[in-house]
Amino acid sequence: MRRIVILGTGTGVGKTHVSVALGRALSARSAATGSPRRFALLKPIESGFSPDAPSDASRLAAESQAISLPSQHPRYALAEPISPHLAARRAGICIDIPSLQSWLAEWEREQQADAGDLAVIETAGGVFTPLSETSTNFDLARALEPARWVLVAPDALGVLHELTATLTALAARGRSPDFVALSAAREPDASTGSNAAELRRLGIADPAAVLGRDANDLARLLERLLA
Ligand SMILES: Nc1ncnc2c1ncn2[C@@H]1O[C@H](COP(=O)(O)OP(=O)(O)OP(=O)(O)O)[C@@H](O)[C@H]1O
Ligand SMILES: [Mg+2]
Repeated sequence: MRRIVILGTGTGVGKTHVSVALGRALSARSAATGSPRRFALLKPIESGFSPDAPSDASRLAAESQAISLPSQHPRYALAEPISPHLAARRAGICIDIPSLQSWLAEWEREQQADAGDLAVIETAGGVFTPLSETSTNFDLARALEPARWVLVAPDALGVLHELTATLTALAARGRSPDFVALSAAREPDASTGSNAAELRRLGIADPAAVLGRDANDLARLLERLLA
């Protein structure tokens, strides 16, 4: 199964919004081309999770197509709305990356997945949000390779700095994202709408997608993810 890992420059930057939009675009593309595609949108770790309230996991599950989700989803459902490492510690458990790897690999086997199938995997918080005393989402994304990484950032003031800092740290660790996407996750400000062009002009990043409040420009990202 082809894996797409959705990373963020922080929490609340639009990772779920981008994942859902990708799911809808995949669905529309399947319908238009008449070639059905199986895909699932997954949230392996979620903090602030309650089974009785809408969650990222339930929003993502609702957009998945023609494929059953893992029976335990999220694999780590953490009640407290704090960093996953702390929510796990307070719940008396430890988030274990090898367990997440086998959770995903077993589910892919059960689905008899092939290379045309897609799993879109949303991480919890930012790229360097801790999952345990010794690991972050970066380590999880590494463990899920081979995968395409999409780094989501807000289309808002501060993003020039946030993307510079995140991309510099990722490059220093030897793995940069394959794509950058901007999403209008924050209240629109005077920079919203012009950040993609400015990121290109300054040589910081070349966003493959910009998701506004009214319109999505996802075609380029989708084509490149499916190539
Ligand atoms: N392009 C957009 N247009 C309108 N609203 C958006 C857009 N992108 C994000 N939002 C809104 O911004 C808020 C934060 O977005 P989202 O939940 O996708 O962030 P996240 O990175 O998944 O957060 P978390 O770290 O909690 O998982 C949500 O209310 C979402 O609906
Ligand atoms: Mg989310």
